[in-house]
Amino acid sequence: MGLNYYGIKKNVRRARKLVIKGTSAAGSGHPGGSFSMAEIMGCLYFKHLKYDPKEPLWTDRDRMVLSKGHASPGLFSNLAVAGFFDESEIETLRQFGSRLQGHPDLKCPGVEFCGGSLGIGLSFSIGIALSAKLDKKNHQIYTVIGDGESDEGQVWEAAMTAAKYRVDNLTTILDRNFIQQDSYTEKVMPLDEELIGNDLSQMWKDASRWKLGDKWRAFGWNVIEIDGHRIEQIDNALTKAKSVKGIPSIIVARTIKGKGVEHMEDNPKWHGKAPSKDIVPIINEELDMQFLIAPSIIAGDMSNLAKEVKRCVDGRADIIHLDVMDGQFVPNKTFDHNKIRELRPITIIPFDAHLMINEPVKHVQNYIDAGCDIVTVHAEVCGESSFGEISDRLKTNQVGVGLAINPDTDLPDWSYRFISDLDQLTVMSVVPGKSGQKFIEETHEKMKKTLQIINENGFEGSIQADGGVTLDNVGQCFDDGARVFVGGSSMVGQNDVRGIIREFRNKILKSRRRSLLSKAYQIGSSDLVNKWIDLHTIGEKKDQLTKMAEEAGYI
Ligand code: DX5
Ligand code: ZN
Repeated sequence: MGLNYYGIKKNVRRARKLVIKGTSAAGSGHPGGSFSMAEIMGCLYFKHLKYDPKEPLWTDRDRMVLSKGHASPGLFSNLAVAGFFDESEIETLRQFGSRLQGHPDLKCPGVEFCGGSLGIGLSFSIGIALSAKLDKKNHQIYTVIGDGESDEGQVWEAAMTAAKYRVDNLTTILDRNFIQQDSYTEKVMPLDEELIGNDLSQMWKDASRWKLGDKWRAFGWNVIEIDGHRIEQIDNALTKAKSVKGIPSIIVARTIKGKGVEHMEDNPKWHGKAPSKDIVPIINEELDMQFLIAPSIIAGDMSNLAKEVKRCVDGRADIIHLDVMDGQFVPNKTFDHNKIRELRPITIIPFDAHLMINEPVKHVQNYIDAGCDIVTVHAEVCGESSFGEISDRLKTNQVGVGLAINPDTDLPDWSYRFISDLDQLTVMSVVPGKSGQKFIEETHEKMKKTLQIINENGFEGSIQADGGVTLDNVGQCFDDGARVFVGGSSMVGQNDVRGIIREFRNKILKSRRRSLLSKAYQIGSSDLVNKWIDLHTIGEKKDQLTKMAEEAGYI
């Protein structure tokens, strides 16, 4: 069954940290291309690939071929998190005698192909896919290729071959990060359209300029185009690709080189360069500061929730927050699992069900069956055994586990043993029951205290801020430790949901940048602050960081 959305996200974060650990230890390597494919690899290794880390050569295993071999740190980090070898081995990257070399080597368990001379992996994958068909084996073959690599003629020879031989047990994922070696693909050899200037975001936004998919369609392939950093889209595309018979499938995954670390994002410099050791702690902090925006639909037109869900989709929400109220736990009544089942087919964006209901243990299965990706219940109506039952049932069904506490509720003693299993802890900043209420200021202090307690108890999930979260206080909530931000009246209650979500992201990014500057100052004073700022060469971030650092007195 593989992991759920939250489990995959957790492992993707861990893998990114291992890439940084390995490349900084080696002083060389390719973090940029390892990061652009991080979510793709996470979905493969922790949901779709069939393998046994204890038996790397199990005959019925699925094969994962990394054709863009220079991203070997990205492969090794996932193999380590998947259990093929101990994570500590990543620090031997590129050392003499190590199994983890700059390009994949068959000495390393889990490696299927010595990639690195680019343009070859797809041909190899077609060979093993055809042999599987000849042997009447039903294992799947997956290959990750790069866009720079697609300049190689052999890739297109392979594309024709796969279509001719109807190689439908092969799924190719194209890590479309628009950068190759030291420049932009659309400058070196356009695959979509020539890039004027350096602003890659234009290539992202304007789908009418996307021509690459049509190239593969013309070669007789089934083509699926996705955002390569949205786990739900990758997961959905891999499932779809596997179901298509008679023709090979390619997933064109639009990605960002260096995704996850702002100074590396869209920056050709980080194609083949390792971060220096003194910067690593700040990068790890940044990787722990990924966040999610979760608009709450009850702040919209309750008579037409389908419309509200669509507004959240258009607004590029990360998660959709569904406030279920039973009229008992809270005076108000909204909707239940039947409505959620109705809304589910509208989008694949994860559904975050916030159950403000009595006796949730009796109802939780209905929310699992309705297609929720995470279910949050209130501590006020649970005890150790009922929450234990709820948590077990959610985990068995690969649904995220969430616990909520009201403003006047502290974490109950019985909840401590579940903390390390929680995917989300909701620290309510209003008395639950409706949207549009004012944020209770004491919540800031409470969130900080709660974060300390849960971190001491092995928490690896995210704190969710829910109730009265606005553009004015979201930055403070981020500093308090929240990483999932619910917005009812401040998001769905606004006309331009996409615009307001963008503003929330910018506010949170500002707080994150400020926190990272203070981290740099703590561990390396002004010198490290200046070094950190100087890394931000793409876009306007550098000026903003300089101003922040000056205001804070760090430089
Ligand atoms: C309150 C709900 C919240 C609320 C959020 O009981 O749990 O999710 O709908 O709406 P705002 O952001 O307007 O407080
Ligand atoms: Zn809520």
